[in-house]
Amino acid sequence: MSKSIQAVRGMNDLLPDVVDRWRAVEEAAREVLLAYGYREIRLPIVEKSELFARSIGSLTDIVEKEMYSFEDRSGDNLTLRPEGTAGCVRAGIENGFLHNQIQRLWYAGPMFRHERPQKGRYRQFHQIGVEAFGIESPDVDAELILMCARLWRTLGLEGLALQINSLGTLAARNEYRRELLRYLETKRSQLDEDSLRRLDKNPLRILDSKNPDMQGVIAEAPSLMDHLDDDSRRHFERLRDYLTQAGVSFVVNPRLVRGLDYYTRTVFEWTTDRLGAQAAVCAGGRYDGLVEQLGGRPAPAAGFALGMERLVELLAQQGDAHGVCPQAYLVLLGEAAEKQGMALAERMRDAGVRIESNCGGGGLKAQLKRADRSGARFALILGDEEVKIGSVAVKDLRQAEHQTSVTQAAVADYLKQKI
Ligand code: HAM
Repeated sequence: MSKSIQAVRGMNDLLPDVVDRWRAVEEAAREVLLAYGYREIRLPIVEKSELFARSIGSLTDIVEKEMYSFEDRSGDNLTLRPEGTAGCVRAGIENGFLHNQIQRLWYAGPMFRHERPQKGRYRQFHQIGVEAFGIESPDVDAELILMCARLWRTLGLEGLALQINSLGTLAARNEYRRELLRYLETKRSQLDEDSLRRLDKNPLRILDSKNPDMQGVIAEAPSLMDHLDDDSRRHFERLRDYLTQAGVSFVVNPRLVRGLDYYTRTVFEWTTDRLGAQAAVCAGGRYDGLVEQLGGRPAPAAGFALGMERLVELLAQQGDAHGVCPQAYLVLLGEAAEKQGMALAERMRDAGVRIESNCGGGGLKAQLKRADRSGARFALILGDEEVKIGSVAVKDLRQAEHQTSVTQAAVADYLKQKI
């Protein structure tokens, strides 16, 4: 036998049991997004590499180390998208739907980053991304956050904490960056390897370090909050008021910086302590400069993306019941039953019952075993006797010893009452 081919490291198959749970999350998200007036946009998975260098930032980890880039047969430099915001802005400029307009959009799909795979961190992962264009005021920042909170409630997700921060305008951040650099230079001997590498390129990211040895240096660093321009300070105050009024709890984390360069003012993250190091389930913020930076006329914008794998893992840990199994399994004993059974199953589906019909024969015991494995609550048993009188035996597989006989005409209604 020749050696079998394995999937690419960090790129996973989603098997049917997992897909059921994904679907439940996707459907809940779609409902919530619709309720706030957001509309779906579908974007290419491959974009020109330059788009990401110009938006995410050429000095970020994502662009420097993690992109799946290649030259295609025409010699164009292309990249499998590492995130969705850049492509969404590109599409908005190209299709002319951003200038002087308010747009509320969402997208879903695979993203690609060549990170070191571990639980909750993959090389192909999936996001649901949401972007709101054309609104500068913090009411829309609050709306985005409320939308997340509603989705967690809808899904019954517990234990997610919200952290927010403001990065101010680009000018304010540059001034802060200079001051931070001055401070970090005095601590050079205490910086770890990662931080030394970031020192020249992206010193703000040092604040994000998870290394326990770095926490002292970080705690004493000057605070970005003290360098905010007045407009950003007011913007942030109003956001906090909106959230407080709406009853959303949050923590202001002045060390919260993001791994993408395009953010201005609001940034936020929803985190969990149940997924080890991969704590961020959903993250985003405002990026007022990006549309102009990518060649469009200036337009304010804010958004977020949630990581499907992490969300689904959390739901699985909570032991949610999002699996979709058949509601009934049709046991068919003998040739006459097999013939009549097919029509009965079709009528049940017409009536809206999810029913899996036994195929390939087998005795009562074997078929009941399959019924149990299908996850269905009820087994409908059709034997010679039932065929003769037009009835079917209904066995509740989740309640011992409970079996009753119902006419075939009435069985769909009978089940619908029970389910
Ligand atoms: P991000 O923080 O890079 O932001 O990613 C958002 C979410 O995607 C993360 O919080 C995480 O749940 C998930 N995620 C990221 N990388 C991985 C990975 N390697 N494996 C599994 N899950 C992952 C963005 O992508 C921005 N585009 C969000 C945004 C939209 N900001 C404004 N609009």
